[in-house]
Amino acid sequence: MDIEIKPMDYKRDISSIVILEKELFDDPFLRGQLYFYHQKYDTFASYVAIIDNSIVGYVFTILEEENLHIYTIGVKREFQRLGIARDLLRKVKEIAIARILPIVLEVSMKNLTALELYTSEGFVRLGSEEMYYPDGSTAHFMKWTPHHTDIID
Ligand SMILES: CC(C)(COP(=O)(O)OP(=O)(O)OC[C@H]1O[C@@H](n2cnc3c(N)ncnc32)[C@H](O)[C@@H]1OP(=O)(O)O)[C@@H](O)C(=O)NCCC(=O)NCCS
Repeated sequence: MDIEIKPMDYKRDISSIVILEKELFDDPFLRGQLYFYHQKYDTFASYVAIIDNSIVGYVFTILEEENLHIYTIGVKREFQRLGIARDLLRKVKEIAIARILPIVLEVSMKNLTALELYTSEGFVRLGSEEMYYPDGSTAHFMKWTPHHTDIID
């Protein structure tokens, strides 16, 4: 199966991203929220994963106060566990390395799948906040910092 990772083109991709958000999250980011963040911040480190001309995964990243902030990431259910999220994260890391910017994100402590992914990619936990999400769950704040010896493949 050919999986292509491309920089997000907001106009072309946003409708598919919004649909996937609704499929994947109980409390999805809505189009208006993503539009607001796209207008307010640089989103150059956002990517989509494409199979057969369809968007099956995405990472929406904003440049916020000298951090690349992964705002949301998701992969369509039938294409999960194929390494797509890891590929998307590694694209963000390439930019982080080139620009010497840390990557930050929040993740629910209940989201063991995502925690496993981030930990396996070298993210470390900086702190937590209880009752952060609408379902009352705790958020872990995680960070990945490029090292001066990192190289881009
Ligand atoms: C989290 C998510 C993006 C992972 O996407 P994915 O493409 O399936 O992930 P990958 O195939 O790249 O997996 C990378 C690693 O994550 C971990 N992982 C992924 N799915 C897992 C699962 N079901 N159980 C345990 N670990 C899992 C593993 O460490 C995996 O590496 P491995 O396959 O070599 O063991 C996807 O499950 C998803 O879209 N979930 C719903 C949205 C969401 O929770 N987003 C994150 C918000 S913080």
